[in-house]
Amino acid sequence: MASPALLNLVDITKKFGAVEALRGVSFSVSAGEVVALLGDNGAGKSTLVKIISGEQRPTSGRLEFDGRERHFASPGEAKDAGIETVYQDLSLCPNLDVVANFFMGRELTRKVFGIPILRDREMREETRRALTAGGTRIPSLRTDVEHLSGGQRQAIELNRFVHWGGKLVMLDEPFAALGVEQTRRGLETVDNVRQRGIGVILITHVMAQAFAVADRIIVMRQGIVAGDLRTDETSPDEVVRLITGDIERVGQGFKQQEVGTNL
Ligand SMILES: Nc1ncnc2c1ncn2[C@@H]1O[C@H](COP(=O)(O)OP(=O)(O)O)[C@@H](O)[C@H]1O
Ligand SMILES: [Mg+2]
Repeated sequence: MASPALLNLVDITKKFGAVEALRGVSFSVSAGEVVALLGDNGAGKSTLVKIISGEQRPTSGRLEFDGRERHFASPGEAKDAGIETVYQDLSLCPNLDVVANFFMGRELTRKVFGIPILRDREMREETRRALTAGGTRIPSLRTDVEHLSGGQRQAIELNRFVHWGGKLVMLDEPFAALGVEQTRRGLETVDNVRQRGIGVILITHVMAQAFAVADRIIVMRQGIVAGDLRTDETSPDEVVRLITGDIERVGQGFKQQEVGTNL
């Protein structure tokens, strides 16, 4: 292994009363790697994302991030460490413009007679530079976010995340509400984010999206990892069989285990 993993999950479990949503999940994500998380409804994907982002505590298991063990008590703590979940729209203020959203809570000010004044021009320039670096073009940065497309909003969120030092971003079905062209641009943005050294966990049920952008595919089934594969060493057909439970394959194909009968 060349570089240590950015995120390392070891035997994570999560119980909701009698329901075992996660039954010992282990995998890693490196910096500059896109991992697609696939699995049927109820497989445990969202629960896992909530644990990584500090919204929920695991019942047991270890979470290491950026070289040490972490116990996030809130999303704020995970965010401080550089982990964020980008949900469609939720974290942007629709009635504020692109610049205000980009600097939300981090506004640049100067004092005039003791009164803080926003440094508008500098904030606009910094926003423009950051979006350009992310390959995103927004015609007017003074447009209120409510007038932008879903794809543009997502691009703003992702670029904002990278710009302010984010390290691992999670996207839960990010393109569900987007059209074909916007989805294509969204995938480009994910690729750009990866190239800037960010780790990405992409939850999607669209196989083509996983194969278009992911370096690795992790299949979850009934709270376990049923497959952990390099994208260039698997196929949509195999992934479907992992999702449905025909086969299991964990660890770069070295210990393929056939558990189904209909092969
Ligand atoms: N807050 C909760 N309380 C009780 N059960 C839950 C809760 N959240 C998730 N579950 C259960 O955990 C399992 C995994 O759910 P989830 O993580 O949402 O799966 P996925 O995102 O893969 O569809 C499901 O059986 C679901 O009903
Ligand atoms: Mg879910």
